[in-house]
Amino acid sequence: MKTFVIGRTGLISNALYEEEKDNLDYFFTSSSLIPQKERIIPFNLQEIDSFPYHLIEKNDLIILTAAISSPDECHQHYARSLRINVTGPVSFIEKITKLGGRVIFFSSDTVYGKAQEDNQRVFHEDDACVPLGDYAKMKREVEVAVSQNPLVKILRLSLVIHHSDKSTRYLESCLKKNLVAEIFHPYYRNAIILSDILSLLKVLSQPWTKSIPSIINVGGDDLLSRVDLAKSFQKKNSSFRFSIVRPPESFYFNRPEIISISNLRMKKLLQRDPAAVTANRKIDNIFCEGINL
Ligand SMILES: NC(=O)c1ccc[n+]([C@@H]2O[C@H](COP(=O)([O-])OP(=O)(O)OC[C@H]3O[C@@H](n4cnc5c(N)ncnc54)[C@H](OP(=O)(O)O)[C@@H]3O)[C@@H](O)[C@H]2O)c1
Repeated sequence: MKTFVIGRTGLISNALYEEEKDNLDYFFTSSSLIPQKERIIPFNLQEIDSFPYHLIEKNDLIILTAAISSPDECHQHYARSLRINVTGPVSFIEKITKLGGRVIFFSSDTVYGKAQEDNQRVFHEDDACVPLGDYAKMKREVEVAVSQNPLVKILRLSLVIHHSDKSTRYLESCLKKNLVAEIFHPYYRNAIILSDILSLLKVLSQPWTKSIPSIINVGGDDLLSRVDLAKSFQKKNSSFRFSIVRPPESFYFNRPEIISISNLRMKKLLQRDPAAVTANRKIDNIFCEGINL
């Protein structure tokens, strides 16, 4: 069984690449890298016919991480983002699954939208989706198009934490330049560390049984704000300074302040709890890993 990871330079794909680059059953596609290496396949979701479909055999796995994942960019460059986030993936998934390939599609917790009743409401996978903003609407559009396909699993990711993610790099760069970081608040998510996502992908790379649901929320146990994350970073790096800033209202046009999700399905698949991204302890380990301070 072969695995194709779409979007080689992305945060999650890059971590997969580091784990699997010597595994001859893994192939990585990229729309931006010049394929110096034989197993990097050039592929752009705006030109899906260029994919080497002849390589796909029954039960091969496509890990479709590629997207325009910035909600602001989706809003500002709507037509292009729609092609990359919706039109391309829907047709690509259809082609792959017709060949018997399986697809893991990366969606987002933003498809749920704002909690309608009160801010503490926890979203389960079967709850109604009222996506807020273009990015969330695009993810939901793909979900609706492919969710009945038994060869597709949909992961609804919360905020992914890693020392190389954009927010953590921002904290690190403020620390290095001795600048006061501006932390947007309120912004709460069931943040999850990247290594838990890799563990989940390992489970899902095995043959799928009927008991595996088609939609799976992917998030940590704790609802954390960016301020919680900044405080944890500060615990490890005492000279780090930050101020809490209310973002402009336009920030919330494309993302709700709070999205709280249930992760029971994910835990069942992992057969364990996700790593605790709680302030004080585990997050410190993440923040110090790989950051040479
Ligand atoms: N990270 C998070 O916190 C988070 C949270 C919720 C959901 N998600 C979703 O999870 C997925 C992975 O997230 P991520 O953070 O790893 O994404 P990312 O870092 O933004 O990477 C996305 C990758 O998509 C590829 N791509 C962009 N345009 C493309 C095109 N026209 N054709 C083909 N590939 C293209 C690029 O790789 P190449 O240049 O190599 O092609 C890019 O690096 C995304 O779908 C994202 O929306 C992420």
